[in-house]
Amino acid sequence: MHATMSMFHLICGIWGLLSVSFCTVVDCASCCHPYQFFQQSNRRFEQKTDTFWKFSEEADRWVEVQLPCDLMISGSDGECGKVKNRKKESLDQEHGFDDKKTRLDRKEAKIVAGPLDVVLMPLRKRISLNKMSETSVWVTGESGSIYERFWNGLEWVFAPHDLPISAGHAVAVFIINQMILALSESGNLYEMHLQLGETSQPVWVEFSYTLNQITDNDQEKNSLILMKSGVVSDDGTRGYFCTKNGTLVELDAVESPRWTNHGQPAGANVAAIAVVASKREVVYTISSAGDLYEYDRKSKPSWKKHIWQEKTAKVSPLLPSKGCILHGLSGDHSESLFLLTKEGTLVERRLHQRKWKWVVHGSPEHQTLTSITLALQDESSETFISLFFPTSTGSVFEYQMPKQLGTVPNNQFPGAWGSHEHPLHAKAARGIAGLPLQVGRILFALDDGRLAELHLAGLGGETSGPSVPQNFRRKASTKYVWTILDVPESEGWNAEYCTEERGPRNCMAGTKDESNDSGISSVTGRRKQSQAQNYYLLLGTSGEPNKSSEEYNLPDDWIRSNFRLRLLYEGKSFFLITNDGLVFEYVCIENVWVWLRHDSSSTMNGIVGSYNGSLFMADTFGSLFLREWSDNEIAWRNCTAMRKGRSIVGGQPWDRLPGKARRATTEDSIFFVSKNGRLLQFMVYMREFKWKDCKNPQNVKVASIVDQELFRENIVFVTGRNGRLYQYNKVTDLWHEHYQSQHLILSEFPGTVISPSTKSLSGSLFMLSREGGLVEYQWNTWYGWNWVEHGTPYKGVILVGSPGPSFEGNQLLLIGSDGNVHLRYMDKNAWKWKDCGFPSMGNKIGEAHIGGGVHEEKPVRIDENCASGLNKDQDNLADLNLNCEPKVASTRPIPFSEGSVIFELRDGRLAELQLVEETEWTWSRIIGTPNSLCLENYWIALASS
Ligand SMILES: *[C@@H]1O[C@H](CO)[C@@H](O)[C@H](O)[C@H]1NC(C)=O
Ligand SMILES: *[C@@H]1O[C@H](CO)[C@@H](O)[C@H](O)[C@H]1NC(C)=O
Ligand SMILES: *[C@@H]1O[C@H](CO)[C@@H](O)[C@H](O)[C@H]1NC(C)=O
Ligand SMILES: *[C@@H]1O[C@H](CO)[C@@H](O)[C@H](O)[C@H]1NC(C)=O
Ligand SMILES: *[C@@H]1O[C@H](CO)[C@@H](O)[C@H](O)[C@H]1NC(C)=O
Repeated sequence: MHATMSMFHLICGIWGLLSVSFCTVVDCASCCHPYQFFQQSNRRFEQKTDTFWKFSEEADRWVEVQLPCDLMISGSDGECGKVKNRKKESLDQEHGFDDKKTRLDRKEAKIVAGPLDVVLMPLRKRISLNKMSETSVWVTGESGSIYERFWNGLEWVFAPHDLPISAGHAVAVFIINQMILALSESGNLYEMHLQLGETSQPVWVEFSYTLNQITDNDQEKNSLILMKSGVVSDDGTRGYFCTKNGTLVELDAVESPRWTNHGQPAGANVAAIAVVASKREVVYTISSAGDLYEYDRKSKPSWKKHIWQEKTAKVSPLLPSKGCILHGLSGDHSESLFLLTKEGTLVERRLHQRKWKWVVHGSPEHQTLTSITLALQDESSETFISLFFPTSTGSVFEYQMPKQLGTVPNNQFPGAWGSHEHPLHAKAARGIAGLPLQVGRILFALDDGRLAELHLAGLGGETSGPSVPQNFRRKASTKYVWTILDVPESEGWNAEYCTEERGPRNCMAGTKDESNDSGISSVTGRRKQSQAQNYYLLLGTSGEPNKSSEEYNLPDDWIRSNFRLRLLYEGKSFFLITNDGLVFEYVCIENVWVWLRHDSSSTMNGIVGSYNGSLFMADTFGSLFLREWSDNEIAWRNCTAMRKGRSIVGGQPWDRLPGKARRATTEDSIFFVSKNGRLLQFMVYMREFKWKDCKNPQNVKVASIVDQELFRENIVFVTGRNGRLYQYNKVTDLWHEHYQSQHLILSEFPGTVISPSTKSLSGSLFMLSREGGLVEYQWNTWYGWNWVEHGTPYKGVILVGSPGPSFEGNQLLLIGSDGNVHLRYMDKNAWKWKDCGFPSMGNKIGEAHIGGGVHEEKPVRIDENCASGLNKDQDNLADLNLNCEPKVASTRPIPFSEGSVIFELRDGRLAELQLVEETEWTWSRIIGTPNSLCLENYWIALASS
């Protein structure tokens, strides 16, 4: 009874405080009509479901307290000021978010079963390779990024050239008469301009064009020309584009850019430009029906169709894709046009002695050719000409023909097929033409988003620049080998961009680094290639898998102990789910920290994600709810009820890395784990919600998400229920397994990322082993991936729960089975343990805030009356102290502000551990919670900041 009384006093105290400071802002008359005032200052707090609670001893539960005014306010410029941020400036109107996306669904790459019952690889529609010069290759990645691979004289470096977000994804780059043009997926062209000035940053500017050949009055027609693909003439002065409408358009850039629309053949469209035959000024195109057409402006009519003669059985319609042309193959002045059919066979359209002929070259047995690459030839010595073809199953085949085909009888297979297979644990991308770099060196795009060079042994590879060694020809090997080339993070990989700073990775000119390479801190140099590839094991989609050993299921309270706490705004607000599944927010209102209750219709289990000021929570049934602030409403939205929605058992561990800002992208998503162990992607950008099933690594259920995109953009690291580490690439949809020794079995807990530098991709993922030891999986440019086992702080103490937040790029907080917090930190390049204890271990720590003894959590600033009320009830509090157990619980802690972490104690209270200096941490306060029977003054643990 007395305790209850004291609580009332305390509440009274808060009211007093609030109304006093409140009335200093607004004059007292308006106190009685605070509603309007609040509405203006912060609409968020209009919500009537936010309530204060007190503990009723009679009822033995928490009961709601009615407030005199609608006190959910902010608006002061004090500590809580930032709370205002969550007010949404403007929000899209509510709309049916799942139905209007059906169109998008259909566009997703279809996986079609091939002739051999092999699942075909998806088409990577955005990948293209383009050689700008001997030292520069421009690539559009599957993510829609543009990057340049540039030889800076010392190394190949990467430079980003992305289109602005508003332009969407890039699908191709052209160099036409010194102009650099990029084509977006939506069909617009952009030209790169160099902005002259101190920092000459190139920018993309929309390349506006009018088609001067269109003379009719249809203005709309002129304005709506969107491009699909293009080919540049050999001399680089003209570009030919295939429009989305199926017409052929020419850009003549010899003087000022001039556009001409050549239209389309009668009764057919232009689906692709096969070849620009510069010598005869003829363009070959292929219609979507698979017929070959020729456009020759000088002849009448300009469009001609190349039909199959009656003698040659038509093999199959042609594949609308790029082909290649060879001159003199079948005799002087002959012209050979090599094309693929839709069935993946090679055919030739041959012009010899003014006669056209079709020649069928076929394909290697059981192979489907998907694109053509003509290798560069050494004019002087070679007697063979080679064409290279990625197949539908990811191998690369070579077709060799004698340079003089003239004598070979018609329709026989004059050449020989050979296979180069594919790089280790990777496959060549389907349908993407390779890029010949030099004689004996061809660049291919890989299906996993990386690049690979197929080169003669001894010539080429990652460290080899564009200049061919003088004596190479003599010792030339004829054996081709593969080298995998890493690509930037935009594709989910590990290549770092070049820098402005002096050094090997300078964007313009690399200089040798004299300083020593000292492992972790070094971002220079390159790792040993042979090892690096083996860290990524490709998971096949067929074949008999190993039955994974001893799968385990997640404990029932898994989500609650890992996702009970969640930060919303750094230093301003965090959330807590109580044992009863109630949702509370700890927030500072008018300089007073209070618990706000968020009513919900279902019992919550944990908070599994946060995006743009909204939180994602899972209820006890695993339904996902979005808690969002929209306009002046706080709303719950059942995401599981959306189309393709699922029940979930886990989410992403952390929302951001301290000090690392992330720009919003159209692919912004939050990942979850479904009940049946699949990874789920929930797209959230601009509230265009959409679920996607990312499946699971072959025959392994996902246990938990170790990290989502904090360590690597576009990569989600997960542990399988077999205790092994896997990654999912958001760009390519591919799963990879990481090399891991058989004895290391990871726990089912989320991980924590430590990244020492925001500029570098070096860093580590920290996880716990199933035995409770600390495990690090580390990446740096020099050594690639490495496992480091850190063990436990002491003998007999293991680590429980999951790793806590990291700080300063070299500190990690962990919870021991002894109920103490343990710090793992780097001191002069050596890792060390430090025991941070638990809050009331001694009076030494945090004396200023936490006095010794029973009533240590006395509010610092409180109304006199309330304080005396508290004193009267000291004895009662002492009794209740039986419920207190200040050791640290295994609940996953959260960072609260820069250098402060909130832990849960075994008695249900929270405690804050603060970084004082370098590696000195002290317990700074205990926060009473609605979850704790150890009755602290949970209303206000700290009355002022
Ligand atoms: C191209 O497509 C647009 C939009 O569908 C259409 O308005 C226009 O008439 C088309 N032009 C040609 C030449 O077919
Ligand atoms: C490079 O490192 C080695 C061993 O770490 C050291 O002995 C040597 O002096 C260093 N050299 C330079 C130039 O720093
Ligand atoms: C699969 O099983 C075979 C035979 O038991 C074993 O040699 C191989 O290492 C296993 N592979 C994996 C990935 O566990
Ligand atoms: C949320 O949606 C799921 C799927 O429709 C449904 O099973 C569940 O009952 C819903 N939860 C609530 C609280 O409405
Ligand atoms: C973030 O929220 C604000 C306010 O609701 C909204 O205007 C904005 O579009 C959201 N941004 C993204 C990337 O979803």
